Amino acid sequence: MDNETIIVLDFGGQYNQLIARRVRECGVYCEVRSYKTPIEEIRKAAPKGIIFTGGPNSVYDEKSPHIGKEIFELGIPILGICYGAQIIAYTLGGKVDSCSVSEYGKTETFYDKSGVIFGAVKDLPDSAVSWMSHTDFVSQIPEGFRITAHTKNCPAAAFENSERKLYAVQFHPEVNHTQHGLGMLDSFVRNVCGCKCDWNMKNYAKTAIEQIRDKVGAGKVLLALSGGVDSSVACALLSKAVGAQLTCVFVDHGFMRKNEGDEVEKAFKDWDVNFIRVDASDRFIGKLEGVSDPETKRKTIGEEFIRVFEDEAKKIGKVDFLVQGTIYPDVIESGTGDAAVIKSHHNVGGLPDRVDFKEIIEPLRMLFKDEVRKLGTELGLPDYLVWRQPFPGPGLAIRIIGEITREKLEILRDADLIFREEIANAHLDRDINQYFAVLTNNRSVGVMGDGRTYDYTLALRGVTTSDFMTADFARIPYEVLEKVSIRIVNEVKHINRICYDITSKPPATIEWE
Ligand code: XMP
Repeated sequence: MDNETIIVLDFGGQYNQLIARRVRECGVYCEVRSYKTPIEEIRKAAPKGIIFTGGPNSVYDEKSPHIGKEIFELGIPILGICYGAQIIAYTLGGKVDSCSVSEYGKTETFYDKSGVIFGAVKDLPDSAVSWMSHTDFVSQIPEGFRITAHTKNCPAAAFENSERKLYAVQFHPEVNHTQHGLGMLDSFVRNVCGCKCDWNMKNYAKTAIEQIRDKVGAGKVLLALSGGVDSSVACALLSKAVGAQLTCVFVDHGFMRKNEGDEVEKAFKDWDVNFIRVDASDRFIGKLEGVSDPETKRKTIGEEFIRVFEDEAKKIGKVDFLVQGTIYPDVIESGTGDAAVIKSHHNVGGLPDRVDFKEIIEPLRMLFKDEVRKLGTELGLPDYLVWRQPFPGPGLAIRIIGEITREKLEILRDADLIFREEIANAHLDRDINQYFAVLTNNRSVGVMGDGRTYDYTLALRGVTTSDFMTADFARIPYEVLEKVSIRIVNEVKHINRICYDITSKPPATIEWE
């Protein structure tokens, strides 16, 4: 590996990605790998340090993940967290038992600051709150170790063997509730592992650009640009790396939000790339005539997208590389270890398997979403692209319930724009993770001026979520909703009633279709 790296060995805990993110916050590149990673592979990767994660098992379960002793002989510093701490104790001859009282949540913890990690944490008091989540505990530490923290119910809340550079904490330093937790991780990577902590998006961009140039040589590169954050940042990076060898195909299916197609085009027009905007709205709207079933809509759009993309790729001629905007959570969820595959991820429009290309380039494969955003800013992308909320591939087609018509698309576009404007005016746009309007197929009676109306009901949806797999409805202040409602019924024809969706996910989903 080129960067100084910390490897997180995944024992199945729920905070594994968080550990990697925190280490990166300390300025050190960090990867999550399975606890089953062969020792040879680890040796070859030559990480500056290794972190064992937590996990839901007991070390005495036969089926629970274990690790061979050889890893402790590599001379690479190791930090075990929770189950990781227990596995260090168990493997090196200590004892693990069930707690008489299991510890869960915020726990007063007493630190011995003569310990290597805790001694270097700035302003760490003698006792502070840590986040615990365990039913087993280390009842006897292995020979050569010493205890460096304890709680009321846990005599070995932290222990270390500084000569062998082995460290263990029963609590979770990566969780915000652990006071000074980030400082502890920083102390581990800086003082124990000797990291310089200079990994940042500027360096990442430089290295990534060099690597892409090496790989691509004089080849031709094709990128399907959706205008979403990931494909936009990938485009910016590729453009800096290979400039005119890159062709971006932006398939405008006619279901984009107001001005969106123009915004994407404007953002990329001045870059050194071949930018092709395909106006395929007639093709898509034609295919969807008479279709109201959500799944049929999705499938029709997905297939048509690939057909349009293939047509364009053929026009360009022989393409050597295809770029995909895969990001790190996709890679981890697709299975670093024992964790179940949660969902299969689809990039924009799916991968056209019949396009003739040699290889796939995934330049964001090692980045978390917030890092992708930072990289976008570093590369000079405008905020409105970098901070764009997620937008589904099928676009507004799945936000119009029932059959899609051009008139309904116009109504929804105008209403959705007003909602987005007012959320931005109220400075809520970075707090609410996704917010949009849905045109229901419901009509109801209203009164406007002195006349009767019989028009559409619009639904507004706003959610807070960290992973989009579960979500809570956003508590948008009534005053903001009122402004949105007044503006929409006054400014958008054919809407006379507005509802706010107050269901969470589950049981609802974020999108309506
Ligand atoms: P649901 O509706 O399943 O949505 O709760 C979860 C997140 O996924 C987005 N979404 C999609 N994104 N292609 C995408 O790229 C799709 O077909 C698609 N469907 C839903 C949705 O907007 C939300 O952020």
